[in-house]
Amino acid sequence: MSDQQNNEKKLAGQAAADLVQDGMLVGLGTGSTVNFFLHSLGNRVKKGLKIKGLPTSERTAALCHELGIELTDFASVDKLDMAIDGADEIDGDFQMIKGGGGALLREKIVASAADHVVIMVDGSKRVETLGQFPLPVEIVKFGHQQAERRVQELGIPYAMRLVDGEPYVTDNGNYILDCQMDSIIAPAAMHDQLNSITGVVDNGLFIDLCHTLVVATGDKVEVLPKG
Ligand code: 5RP
Repeated sequence: MSDQQNNEKKLAGQAAADLVQDGMLVGLGTGSTVNFFLHSLGNRVKKGLKIKGLPTSERTAALCHELGIELTDFASVDKLDMAIDGADEIDGDFQMIKGGGGALLREKIVASAADHVVIMVDGSKRVETLGQFPLPVEIVKFGHQQAERRVQELGIPYAMRLVDGEPYVTDNGNYILDCQMDSIIAPAAMHDQLNSITGVVDNGLFIDLCHTLVVATGDKVEVLPKG
């Protein structure tokens, strides 16, 4: 990651932390931009901000513990006031690819429970057409070869996500196929097609799940409402 991209992630994260208000229940995403956001949020909590966070990964939960951010879970809450997360790609309609960090399923559950979803990105994540970034598809371990065959039948090149030569396992105990689509012309249709494969748990297309985009380009930060 370049210094500029890193700086933009930090600026976007800091700006997003300012959107959190006292008393809110906040969904907390996963990734390097989220880590910057959490540090800023943690500073506000130290100064007296009262919020509860609902984390989308074990990594995010661990960082929240370090930063003193109080956490909750879906056993205790139904709706969230806000969810704040990063993205791998976002287009002009605010449709997204997420899951580069492997947390897509929990991120989608959390975003779907939030009244307002804020996405923070560095300038490189804005695209005209989704698909250059490999689309993550989370599949159950049992019979994963079958789900892979169905993806193959759709003519989609994919690779099993690996860590140290072994399949990457999500926080939910599943595998991820990274699908190289190059250009996703109809994201909603592709979302539904992939999710109709038995064994696919969910995929990283986030359709109509972003209300506000916080984007940093150079030293400039913009907060853009959808539409
Ligand atoms: C994790 C995600 C992240 O939001 C996405 O990968 C962006 O990550 P980063 O902020 O590190 O660029 O979807 O599953």
